[in-house]
Amino acid sequence: MTKTVLITGTSSGIGLAAAVGAARAGWHTVATMRDPGRADALLEAARAAGVADRVQVKRLDVTDADSAAACVAEVVAEHGRLDAVVNNAGAGFVGTIEQHDMEQVRSVMEVNFFGVVELTRIALPHLRASGGRVITVTSVGGVVGQPFNESYCAAKFAVEGFMESLAPVAASTGVQVAVVEPGAVASEFVNNVRLDVPAMLAQAGPYAPALQGYVDHALKTFGSDTTQTPEQAAAPVVGALTAEKMPFRMQTSDWARDFVAAKLADLDGSAVQTEVNEWLG
Ligand SMILES: NC(=O)c1ccc[n+]([C@@H]2O[C@H](COP(=O)([O-])OP(=O)(O)OC[C@H]3O[C@@H](n4cnc5c(N)ncnc54)[C@H](OP(=O)(O)O)[C@@H]3O)[C@@H](O)[C@H]2O)c1
Repeated sequence: MTKTVLITGTSSGIGLAAAVGAARAGWHTVATMRDPGRADALLEAARAAGVADRVQVKRLDVTDADSAAACVAEVVAEHGRLDAVVNNAGAGFVGTIEQHDMEQVRSVMEVNFFGVVELTRIALPHLRASGGRVITVTSVGGVVGQPFNESYCAAKFAVEGFMESLAPVAASTGVQVAVVEPGAVASEFVNNVRLDVPAMLAQAGPYAPALQGYVDHALKTFGSDTTQTPEQAAAPVVGALTAEKMPFRMQTSDWARDFVAAKLADLDGSAVQTEVNEWLG
């Protein structure tokens, strides 16, 4: 029996690599994206890996509940089952909170939090029927709050709280729930934030020196050897699909593990505050 997984945000990055990895692991992979016209890179990678016959592209915009419901219904109608959902789609958001309006803050929550909740809610009855699993790509930013990423980290913290709370409830009906926490990954993530750094700095007022420090730190981090490839970050997602029992929380690299561990042991918050203050110079 071939198992079926639905993955969100597979037009690039970790989602694309996870889709190819899941297909290589023998899963029928429903690779979803908000614009299926952007499937070329995925389909090319699937062909190169010899798994194109196990990758099926479908439309799913995580901010559109109807598209999520329609996609899940189609998968179950076509395959008779749904064994796993990988909530991977997400988008970063950087700047000073005083530069952003509430509509922008809400839109960060829509993509990174409410979209995850909605798809999980829709998929759960089918996952119950298959004894399936929910794997959600959060971030080290879902554990450690990072300067100038307030809204993005809040959304990822919300996902972590949601999934940690859901895990025992879902387990009581035979569904496993886990989160996967990458650090920096060289995907389209940074480009997709569409940062205009000079404009942001010009509008940052009293935060400009700290924001400049953050930008310098981020450039150094993304240029360093702790940055993973999408394939490296996707490997634990694929591993979680095939593991008999998933741990609840998985980091994708040693760096991410150390960073998250420091927070989890930081009872008064001083260790994290000291570290991130250093980022700002
Ligand atoms: N890269 C990092 O450094 C990093 C670190 C920690 C965590 N993460 C997390 O890892 C996950 C994957 O990110 P990535 O690094 O692979 O970045 P990416 O290359 O930008 O991929 C993000 C994917 O999400 C999709 N997406 C955005 N909005 C969507 C929507 N409304 N509906 C459906 N799909 C949507 C994008 O599709 P479009 O092509 O249509 O925009 C894209 O396929 C995200 O949850 C991200 O927060 C990334």
